[in-house]
Amino acid sequence: MFIVSGPELVIEQCKAGIIGAFPALNARPKEALDPWLGQIEDALKQASEEDPQRKIAPFAVNQIVHASNDRLEHDLEVCIKHKVPIIITSLRAPDDVVAHVHAYGGLVFHDVISVRHAQKALEAGVDGLILVCSGAGGHAGTISPFALVPEVRRFFAGPIILSGAIANGSSILAAEALGADFAYMGTRFIATREARAEEDYKDAIVESAAGDIVYTSLFTGVLGNYLKKSIFNAGLDPLALPEADKTTMNFGSGGGAKAKAWRDIWGAGQGVGQIDDVPPVAELVSRLAREYHAARMRLFTP
Ligand SMILES: Cc1cc2nc3c(=O)[nH]c(=O)nc-3n(C[C@H](O)[C@H](O)[C@H](O)COP(=O)(O)O)c2cc1C
Repeated sequence: MFIVSGPELVIEQCKAGIIGAFPALNARPKEALDPWLGQIEDALKQASEEDPQRKIAPFAVNQIVHASNDRLEHDLEVCIKHKVPIIITSLRAPDDVVAHVHAYGGLVFHDVISVRHAQKALEAGVDGLILVCSGAGGHAGTISPFALVPEVRRFFAGPIILSGAIANGSSILAAEALGADFAYMGTRFIATREARAEEDYKDAIVESAAGDIVYTSLFTGVLGNYLKKSIFNAGLDPLALPEADKTTMNFGSGGGAKAKAWRDIWGAGQGVGQIDDVPPVAELVSRLAREYHAARMRLFTP
């Protein structure tokens, strides 16, 4: 997640057995990306040496494939050097990225919000599709997961990663029941100790419910979900926001509004109403596993 995910979060996620991801753009200046990757690799290697039985998940780096991202070539080169196990691509179809990542044995998962985007990404040769469905935090689609997962399954048998307001263990089971292979969670992990979000942002997530999420293109030029409270704090009326001019799009800038997207205007999905605390990642992942198994027992015990 833009601004929020750094090495501390990713390391704890992978050590807890789930894939941790961060956008390359979070490492600033761009020269910081190489040491960030080194830090993650060293910490995971050390954890594995200390406890060889421990299940440690691979990590992923997100690349924004868009004309406004003038670091793409540099960041991709650094990821290739480190043989980053999974590259997540967002926005445009990742034609140029796939061959480079496959050459070292990495996987490419692409963010999509529609069947058309999914088909274009598959034509570009991606290994998996991240379906960003309605209610997801940050840039999100409007299609229900009940519609998008089965439609995509008609033509794609490979890995489907589902996102959109997944914030507890039973929702992870529901994603599996729908036909997804992985659940993809963002907002739930902003409210963890290791996330690089201000305390006010974490508190606002804990205090908010689904009705406090506003869907607008004003801040980046692309439609996304944000916390109402942060829009109020920026002096805007969340119920009367203008549409953004697409030509002003610049990932990470205000896109026409004065407040800065992501820093002042906080991204969050409709899962906020299920989030009541700010635990360490390890505690959260154990809880998600307990909730998942309890949901399975409830459903499958006669
Ligand atoms: C604050 C925030 C920043 C995000 N930044 C990115 C990003 O830089 N790149 C990206 O591919 N997705 C980004 N996302 C989307 C997440 O990767 C993910 O799809 C989404 O959070 C899942 O929905 P959920 O938040 O309801 O769990 C962001 C989401 C949030 C909440």
